[in-house]
Amino acid sequence: MLTAVDFHKCLQEYLDRFVDLVNRYDQTASHFEELQLIIDNFSGFVTDKENSKAWDQLKLDQSDVLACTAGQLRAISARCVAIMEKYRAVRLQQGHAEITEYFKNIEACIEKEFGSFQITSASKVLMVGSGSFPMTPLLIAKRTGAEVVGIDIDEEAIALGSNVVKQLGHGLNIRLENKHVEQLEHLKGLTHIIFSSTVEQKYDILDQLYPLTSDEAVVAMRYGDGLKSVFNYPLKPLDGRTWKIAEYVLRPDDVFDIALYQK
Ligand SMILES: C[S@@+](CC[C@H](N)C(=O)[O-])C[C@H]1O[C@@H](n2cnc3c(N)ncnc32)[C@H](O)[C@@H]1O
Repeated sequence: MLTAVDFHKCLQEYLDRFVDLVNRYDQTASHFEELQLIIDNFSGFVTDKENSKAWDQLKLDQSDVLACTAGQLRAISARCVAIMEKYRAVRLQQGHAEITEYFKNIEACIEKEFGSFQITSASKVLMVGSGSFPMTPLLIAKRTGAEVVGIDIDEEAIALGSNVVKQLGHGLNIRLENKHVEQLEHLKGLTHIIFSSTVEQKYDILDQLYPLTSDEAVVAMRYGDGLKSVFNYPLKPLDGRTWKIAEYVLRPDDVFDIALYQK
């Protein structure tokens, strides 16, 4: 197990490398390999059981310092994952279609996303934070035939994501929009809602959706607690008056876990 000093040094090194890579993003795919490597490496770091033990131990001794580092790493790694998706979308346009370890990990997670609340061809799914390479909408629509709407606050992500869907999702019922939830129509018809774990405002949006959705809607909230919180926004306790936890889908070998909510 890493010592406290080494563990901190490790987190700081990831932080510095992510900051550098964000600063070098120039809307081309020139730093794709470098970013892919560090994200794969970081995914391994946060899912390593020994590191997780080191985190829990350190948390007891230095929780303030750790919370500060976690907050910085979370914000910067979220930007890096979003950039990574942009690179992947650009590279697809250029004729490359490689899948990194990180994406394989995410795709494996998607299979188990809704636990016992399975998506069928009659389902209507909303994904908040669909990204520049909308794997979740693509996989769900492809495997189930459901209608999927993805929203993203980043206009460039919607433009790139729409090209990816055009290329890989021919004939699938997928729509991507640069809108906030309150601008969407037919929210009462939604059966399943998925939150990307790197959406900082996910719990505000969840609150907003409560009066706008039907009693049957199921929410898959992707999150990361403990060491995984350096790569994901964590779970937030709810007061029990609105959404209630229906199930946890814990994925020890994956970068995020999932909490399922119902009304
Ligand atoms: C890396 S990703 C996408 C997830 C991935 N494509 C998937 O299918 O699992 C996260 C996306 O969330 C978007 N995002 C961040 N905050 C958001 C918000 N408040 N509302 C909607 N999208 C948001 C980012 O712009 C980014 O494109």
